[in-house]
Amino acid sequence: MRSVKIAPSILSADLTNLGEAIRLLEKGGADMVHLDVMDGHFVPNITFGPAFAKQLKAMCSLPFDTHLMISHPMKYAEEFAKGSDWLTFHIECEDDPHEVIDLIRGLGVKVGMSINPHTPFSEVAPFMAKLDLLVVMTVEPGFGGQSCMEQHFAKITEARKYAEANDLDIEIEVDGGICETNVKEAVDAGASIFVAGSAVFKGKRGVVGEIRALKAAAGSE
Ligand code: DX5
Ligand code: ZN
Repeated sequence: MRSVKIAPSILSADLTNLGEAIRLLEKGGADMVHLDVMDGHFVPNITFGPAFAKQLKAMCSLPFDTHLMISHPMKYAEEFAKGSDWLTFHIECEDDPHEVIDLIRGLGVKVGMSINPHTPFSEVAPFMAKLDLLVVMTVEPGFGGQSCMEQHFAKITEARKYAEANDLDIEIEVDGGICETNVKEAVDAGASIFVAGSAVFKGKRGVVGEIRALKAAAGSE
């Protein structure tokens, strides 16, 4: 069975107490930390910069999965790579995707490409062989706490079939509105990494309990 990795997005954590949030993610068995970077241009919101990523990563034992929702990854990838293990940019950005992939690859971190809900899989297919990670968005990027558009799970299936047909070793991550009630459907579609912001940080059972519940619903425990 394919592994199930939970990547909580700290966008939904209590930002005044991130040390405690990280401690709970480690204790709860999170597999990575998802860091949502927004530039106020590619998306209508602004979040974290590279110094923040570096400091937070330094106090955490989990891998950092940085999601750049920014117009110009060429300008910022080098600095963000210092605070990341996985670095993802959007195919819809304003830079040349080939150049961004080569830049990130040269920085010694894993290379991810993300695709917005309305971008078809066919646009990323030509890049698949050069990626470590494909991130399929199931909300419009910009904000946590939105409802998942499950119809886009079909794109995960398409990507997984493509990866298998071409013998590619690639992680497929789903990002946006993932929770206990839809995570199994995303597993069955072929995803291997599950971003969860509000489900982990705003649930009634606390961070540790919510991670456990997500893993159980995904069928991994
Ligand atoms: C949306 C971000 C997501 C989001 C996840 O722009 O990329 O990672 O914060 O949060 P939830 O799980 O609340 O949708
Ligand atoms: Zn994200």
